[in-house]
Parts: sequence; C-alpha cells; structure tokens
Amino acid sequence: MANTFHKWLITGANGNLGRRLIDALMRHTNDQVVALVRSQSAQAQLAATVDQYPQRFAVSKVEFNDTEAIKQAAAGCQIAVHLVGILKATKTASYAAAHEESCAALLTAIAATKIEHVTYLSILGSRPDAVNACLASKGRAEQMLLDSDVNSCVIRVPMVLGEGDYASFALRKRAAAKLAVVLRGSSLEQPIYAGDVVAAIRQAAMLRLDGAVDLAGPESLSRNALTQRAAAVLGSTPRLLSIPVQIGYLAAGLLTTLLANPPVTTAMLGVLDHDDKVDPTAALERLGLDGLTDLDTMLRKIL
Ligand SMILES: NC(=O)c1ccc[n+]([C@@H]2O[C@H](COP(=O)([O-])OP(=O)(O)OC[C@H]3O[C@@H](n4cnc5c(N)ncnc54)[C@H](OP(=O)(O)O)[C@@H]3O)[C@@H](O)[C@H]2O)c1
Repeated sequence: MANTFHKWLITGANGNLGRRLIDALMRHTNDQVVALVRSQSAQAQLAATVDQYPQRFAVSKVEFNDTEAIKQAAAGCQIAVHLVGILKATKTASYAAAHEESCAALLTAIAATKIEHVTYLSILGSRPDAVNACLASKGRAEQMLLDSDVNSCVIRVPMVLGEGDYASFALRKRAAAKLAVVLRGSSLEQPIYAGDVVAAIRQAAMLRLDGAVDLAGPESLSRNALTQRAAAVLGSTPRLLSIPVQIGYLAAGLLTTLLANPPVTTAMLGVLDHDDKVDPTAALERLGLDGLTDLDTMLRKIL
C-alpha cells in the first residue's frame, strides 16, 4: 500500500474520521491529499498538517454545492473519500443537504476529472426506504453513488470509537459514573475501532472496491454490557438504570418543538437505538483485512 503514489480528495476532511485518515496517509504513505472543508474554522483545524507536509497536503475551502470549485480542487486526484455527513439535522442543516445534495454535487464535480474511485462512509442500517429519516437519507446518497458511472464503495459502519472522540467520551462518562443512565440498555451495540475504519477506507480505495459492505466491530453486545465492559477497564462499578426508548423519543420530540437546535432529535435517537448485529467476516474478506481490534483492546485504547 505504501509504495504506490496516489492523490486523494477528501471531503468532510476536518471531521473526526477525516483527520484520522489524513494523519494515517501522511504518516504511512507518500501520497498527496487535497482536503475539502466548508469554513475558515475547519481550515484552521488542518493548518498544522499543512505546515508539517506542505508538499503533500493542501486544504481547499469550498461550498459543497460549488461543483466548479470542487472540480478544480480535484485536479490530478485519482481517489475520493466522501466523509460529509450529519447525525443530527436541524432547521438550518438538513439530512438532504448533508447526504443526497453533497453526493450529487461531488458526482457532478468529479465527472470530468481523473477520479477513478469514491469511498463513502455510511451508517449500518441505512436504506433508501428506511423509516428513520437519517438512515433513509444516507441510503439515498449511497444509491446515488452506487448507480453512478464512478466506481464506488459504500462502507456502512455502526458507532465508531477512537481516542479523544465524542462517542468514547460519552461511554467513559457513563462507565465511570456511580449511577449510569442508559437509553434502552438491551439495545445492541457493535462498536468498531476508528483505526480499523481508516484501514477499511484505505483498502476500499486501493482495491477500487465496487459495491456496499456492512462492517462492524468484532462483538455485538447490549448497551448495558458495553457499559459494564468499559467500567471493568476503568475499575469502576456503576449501577445501571435503563430508560425506555419511548421516554427518550418523548423528550427529543419536546426539545425539537421548543428549540431551533435541540441537543437530541428523534431521528438521531433512532440511529443510536438501532440494533447492530452483523457478521463482519464477508466485509473483511472483500476489503482484504486480516481482522479487527478486539473490544477490550479498543476500550483500553479509547478510555
Ligand atoms: N463517527 C461515527 O461513529 C460514524 C458512524 C457511522 C457513519 N459515520 C459517517 O462517517 C462520516 C464521517 O464521520 P465523522 O465522525 O468524521 O463525522 P464528523 O466529525 O461529524 O464530520 C462530518 C464532516 O461533514 C461536514 N459536513 C456536515 N454537513 C455538511 C454539509 N451540509 N455540507 C458540507 N459539509 C458538511 C462537517 O463539516 P463542519 O465541520 O464544517 O460541520 C465535517 O467536516 C459521516 O458521513 C458519518 O455519517 C460516522
């Protein structure tokens, strides 16, 4: 993987997984990366990487429907990774804009470029006909890419856990508490390590993999059990209080009516409450990956 030279176009590049992918590419390859972001603050998040790798790394600030600007930024790139996405839609940030419209714009922009392959990171359970608004929107975006003329790979993953990210922080907080309040404790989680997701994206691109794969962590377990496994790593013994998901939906519905930017929405809760239980073997084979970081190692790394 490290010996061949490539030029990557990465959208949503300042996000959690974008920054990890860029870091891996800068440290372990000689590849070049063009990072697309939409704001000055996002540009600033990547400024240190520009300083460190001025010959290999550049950031472009573009509007995500500005197909001409994306086309110019993509000059010379062979590989695209589309990481734009949201878990929570608000009155000013819709799922359609973040998922379908950003995919459509990317496809238009790269049609006359040298880009041979697009990898799209999606969410386990996404389908165009899903009842949940977030999963349905992701599903429609996936379909656009899979139906396009560009060779595309969709990788659907559940909760990703990485060092210093929000999901790991929330799990740590719950596991360290005396009383851990858990939304539907029987809900199935199958967390995957962020480093494994980055490896999967790199493999999908290198193999020019075509089609969709469902990739998840090595263990599917209840949210209660995950909290307890994390607590064991921390040496804590929380008492678990499982809240019925209907109470969560009620609170989220109320907050959505009252606030322009509620901390939680019903669609977001629906994604979090999705029961994740898939066998990752077929995905690992297609991606040419040997295995996944086991749950306890993952928890020790992130907690
Ligand atoms: N992390 C997970 O657990 C997980 C699980 C399953 C799937 N995924 C998918 O993986 C992808 C990357 O995840 P992540 O954790 O890196 O997400 P993240 O940290 O939230 O980053 C998302 C990126 O998308 C950009 N973005 C959002 N809405 C946009 C819009 N309308 N137009 C242009 N850019 C927009 C954000 O830009 P700003 O910073 O400017 O807002 C940011 O760069 C997402 O598509 C997500 O759905 C993630």
